[in-house]
Amino acid sequence: MTTSSPVRPVRLWEDGFALDPYGYYAALRAQGPVGWAELAPGVPAYVVTERRAALELLRDTVTFSHDPRPWESTVAGDSPVLGMMRWRPNSLFADGAAHVRYRASLIDAFDRIEPHDLRDRVHRAVHVLVSRIGPRGQADLVGEFARPLMALVFNSLFGLPDSQSERLDRALGMMMEGGAQAAEGEAEFGGYVLELVAAKAELRGDDLPSWLLDHPAGLSPEEVAWQVFLTLGAGHEPTANLVSNALSRILGTSVYYSTLTSGARPVMDAVVEVLHHETPLANYGIHYARSPVTFHGAWIRPAIPVVVSYGALAHFAEQEVVSGRHPKDASHLSWSAGPHACPVKRHTLLIATEAIERLTLWLPDLEPVVEREQLTWRPGPFHRSLTSLPVRFSPRSPDQPGDPS
Ligand code: HEM
Repeated sequence: MTTSSPVRPVRLWEDGFALDPYGYYAALRAQGPVGWAELAPGVPAYVVTERRAALELLRDTVTFSHDPRPWESTVAGDSPVLGMMRWRPNSLFADGAAHVRYRASLIDAFDRIEPHDLRDRVHRAVHVLVSRIGPRGQADLVGEFARPLMALVFNSLFGLPDSQSERLDRALGMMMEGGAQAAEGEAEFGGYVLELVAAKAELRGDDLPSWLLDHPAGLSPEEVAWQVFLTLGAGHEPTANLVSNALSRILGTSVYYSTLTSGARPVMDAVVEVLHHETPLANYGIHYARSPVTFHGAWIRPAIPVVVSYGALAHFAEQEVVSGRHPKDASHLSWSAGPHACPVKRHTLLIATEAIERLTLWLPDLEPVVEREQLTWRPGPFHRSLTSLPVRFSPRSPDQPGDPS
């Protein structure tokens, strides 16, 4: 995109984007490091597809802010992207000292989770799910594994009973898709979090919300609710998609699966492949210029979102190395960079790899029912998310002899 030539925005809300994201990324990239797009009909955004520009944006807290409120006053109250972009008093939408305070509380709370404890929680969640699907010999690994898995893991970290996990899963799914049901999803999700924090404010437990309530930063129960809201929103969908996208690669690729089950190729390889080629949070890192500015050839106006396309960056990373633009670095930026980079990357990688390893231990002959090329992806500008991942396997009853311990 240049400062003078009006261009047709690339419509990231179209169904075609889910079908062929790389075509859309190429169209954005043809405009230069900063392209012109729409996140929803009539909701324009600048989209950064070049690594150097992205790093500059992510690190420049003087020129750019994370506060969306000036933008919010320009969009319709029922816009489907508001669920993902509306201001809330949490780490993601805060700048400066407020950001440091919220982020430090979250990091300290997550640091209290020991890896072996997290591993146990993941194993227990996989056991619950395999008990449900195992006897059937067939399942959808998105709807019946990856998504409920994350709801179960978070529910347990938040000290909630498993019965609440389905409510959480449904609400987040509606919100992330950014479609007609986004507002309903957001309202249901809000209700879930408020009830949770109110219960913990009344009676503490050994869980994340209680640790946040007791953190020396002195967050009020309302502030804790917003950090929990963010944690679930930022963690559930992307991690479920990381797991299902990785499983689709493993199961759809014969060389991969045969070497994986024989122990030759670690699950982490598949997870890293996803971060390079199908990163779950495809377009986010949303910033707003504090005043009009020229940025990598684009004239950026305030109150218009500047989005980082992690999906495009990962896709073009190798080309940038070949062209000599970043001769030594073909790495993705799927965890972002700068002050808002994902604070729980380590936990997430453990959850994803343990879940997949455990599943393939329980059900060692998982076989895809649909070719990987025929799988469909959910619409929405922000994520890379499979609609379903149907598989079959030898039926397995829970607690039969030879169970993984
Ligand atoms: C347990 C799972 C996860 C949790 C609890 C979590 C939590 C968070 C939180 C709280 C932030 C905001 C940090 C801040 O504003 O200072 C964040 C940022 C971010 N996370 Fe995660 N995350 C999880 C998994 C993932 C996954 C699977 C991905 C994708 C690979 C991801 C990618 C990112 C990115 C790109 C950002 C930067 C925010 C932005 O683009 O605006 N996260 N995460």
